Amino acid sequence: MSDTDELLRIEGIRKTFPGVVALDGVDFDLRRGEVHVLLGENGAGKSTLIKMLSGAYTPDAGRILVGGEEARIQGAQDSERLGIATIYQEFNLVPDLTVAENIFLGRQPRRFGMIDRKRMEADAEVLLKRVGVTVSPRARVRELGIARLQMVEIAKALSLDARVLIMDEPTAVLTSEEVEKLFAIVRTLREDGVGIVFITHHLEEIAALGDRVTVIRDGRSVGQVPASTPEDELVRLMVGRSIEQQYPRERADRGGALLSVEGLTRDGVFHDVSFEVHAGEVVGVAGLVGAGRTEVVRAVFGADPYDKGAVKVAGSAVPKYDVNAAMTAGIGLIPRTARARAWCWTRRSRRTSGW
Ligand SMILES: Nc1ncnc2c1ncn2[C@@H]1O[C@H](COP(=O)(O)OP(=O)(O)OP(=O)(O)O)[C@@H](O)[C@H]1O
Ligand SMILES: [Mg+2]
Repeated sequence: MSDTDELLRIEGIRKTFPGVVALDGVDFDLRRGEVHVLLGENGAGKSTLIKMLSGAYTPDAGRILVGGEEARIQGAQDSERLGIATIYQEFNLVPDLTVAENIFLGRQPRRFGMIDRKRMEADAEVLLKRVGVTVSPRARVRELGIARLQMVEIAKALSLDARVLIMDEPTAVLTSEEVEKLFAIVRTLREDGVGIVFITHHLEEIAALGDRVTVIRDGRSVGQVPASTPEDELVRLMVGRSIEQQYPRERADRGGALLSVEGLTRDGVFHDVSFEVHAGEVVGVAGLVGAGRTEVVRAVFGADPYDKGAVKVAGSAVPKYDVNAAMTAGIGLIPRTARARAWCWTRRSRRTSGW
C-alpha cells in the first residue's frame, strides 16, 4: 500500500456524553478501494464514531486525518468538503421535495439566477442510472420505499464526489434481493476507488462484501482483522467471550407462558397457528414472504379479525379484533413499515434541527 492509498485515519478518539464514555480510545483507518466493516455489539460506539466523521459530534480527544492531514470536522459542510458522505439508517432526505431536489439540495444548478430545473433533473438522471435505480428525478421522496430512499442517498453521495462513503447499518431495512443490489453498487464504488465504512450486525455480510474489519467493544477498538476471519472469532472479539457463552443453549430463567396463541385461523390467510411466548423469551416467527407472519401478529394484536382459535395473556383470553383490549392486556406491536418510516422522518427532523 502506498501512503496515498490512505483516505482516512482516526487515532485515539474519545467522546464522553454526560455519564457515558461512548468512545474511549478508538483507532481506525480507511484505504482507497476497500470496504472496512465496523463491528460491535449494540452500544459499542459505532454510530458515535461515524458521527465524528460527519461532523455531528466533535471528539473530546484524539485526531482525525483525512488524506494525511489533520482535519477539524465541525459540521456537515466540513465533512462534505473533505469528500465524506454519510448515509444514516434513518436517512436524511426531505419528504416533500423531489428526488432531484434532494440530491442537489443547497447546490441546485442555476441559470440567470434561477434554479435550472432541466439541468438538475438531467444530472440526477445520470446519477440514478449509475446506482441502477429506476426512479423519476421528479418523484416526491415521500412516495418512495426504503430501498429507493437508500439509492437516492447513494446518488446524492455520488453527486458530492465522495471519496469516503459511510453506511450505518444499510442492510437492516432491506429484503435479501435489495441487499444484493446494494452490494453490487458498493462493489462498483469500491472498484472506482471509493473507501467505504460499512456498519452491519450481519456476520455473513462481512465475508460477502468486506475487506477488513475493525471490532469495537465498550468504546475501544479491540482488533483489526481480515474480513475472511471465521464468524466465531469475530463474535469472540465483539463480546470478549466465546460464542458458546454468548448463546447458551438453555436459558435458566425461562418463566411461565405469558402469551398463548391457540389454533388461530383466518380463513384463506393463515390456518391453525399455535405458539407460546414465555417470560424472558424471544420467539422468532419465520416464514417466506406471503406466508402470513404479519397477518398472524396483526391478529394477535387485535388489528385484524380471525375466525377460529384464541389469544391468551397469562391464561386470560383477550377479546378478538380489539386493539384497545390487546393493549390493556399488555400487548404492543411495532409494525414493519411504520418502524422504518418513523426512523426516516422523525429522527431526520431531530437531527437537522440539531445541526
Ligand atoms: N447523544 C448521546 N447522549 C448520550 N449518550 C449517548 C449519545 N449517543 C450515544 N450515546 C451512548 O454512547 C454509547 C455508544 O452508542 P452508539 O450509538 O455509538 O452505539 P452503536 O455501536 O452504534 O450501537 P447500535 O449497534 O445499537 O447502533 C451507548 O452507551 C449510547 O447509549
Ligand atoms: Mg448505531
